[in-house]
Amino acid sequence: MADWRRAGKTIALVPTMGALHPGHISLVRQAKENADKVVVSIFVNPTQFAPHEDLARYPRDEAGDLAKLSEAEADLVWSPSVDEMYPAVFSTSVKAGSAAADLEGAFRPHHFDGVATVCAKLFNQVTPDVAIFGEKDYQQLAVLRQLVDDLNMPLRLIAAPTVREKDGLALSSRNAYLSEKERAIAPALYATISEAAAQVAAGTPFTVITTDATAHLAEAGFTKVDYVEIRDAATLSAVVSPGKPLRILAAAWLGKTRLIDNIAAASPS
Ligand code: PAJ
Repeated sequence: MADWRRAGKTIALVPTMGALHPGHISLVRQAKENADKVVVSIFVNPTQFAPHEDLARYPRDEAGDLAKLSEAEADLVWSPSVDEMYPAVFSTSVKAGSAAADLEGAFRPHHFDGVATVCAKLFNQVTPDVAIFGEKDYQQLAVLRQLVDDLNMPLRLIAAPTVREKDGLALSSRNAYLSEKERAIAPALYATISEAAAQVAAGTPFTVITTDATAHLAEAGFTKVDYVEIRDAATLSAVVSPGKPLRILAAAWLGKTRLIDNIAAASPS
């Protein structure tokens, strides 16, 4: 990296937790368009998982990941060990800002502190000019924008659109957990928030939309709905002013698997 810097090359970082799918690879493509050199990090970050969550069974496929990244022509893969990232003496961490307060933050209380901490470390290790993150994790993007702004980190974040299966299901490493039956139900999440976006455009009251969407997900076979919310797209605040871009965000369970998704929405003009 120091050599690249001396040669005046710009660097893009794509942070991932591996088990790469075409959504991740789309970020690598965006990275290549925005910098001379592309670094992809692969690190299943323990500090963003709660003790009861899926850290131990999170999918891992090192050989497959390296093959995909070589095909995508990433320049460097950074896959540190847990000990390298969090040695026994490690004791400083980042507390995520107000964007982490609710939605995912309500259901995964320390998740975004772990994400903010590991991303701060990755940014310092790699010193990228730009870092690419997916809109799939829309709140994560908002939290990281706050991190970079609040702590004056010298890099620019770029948001990449969500890559989906043909039936609308957002690609996710966690889709591998779904049984055949659950996989058949899963596209209802995107279908439901798409319908909600159409209702927002038609001027339906937000409480009606979110109540209907929650009921619809349960009817479709989701076993638990954590939230369906309509928020200000920039701040994720619940208070939305007329004319401002909106985002519909949802999280719901299919058995032991928790899926999240989101979509842009616009109020009627
Ligand atoms: P991970 O879930 O592996 O995702 C890595 C990046 O890929 C994130 O920016 C995520 O938003 C993006 N991504 C995932 N699915 C996508 C899809 N279907 N379309 C487009 N982009 C998609 O997010 C994390 O890892 C971690 O929290 C991390 C930022 C690496 C910190 O540990």
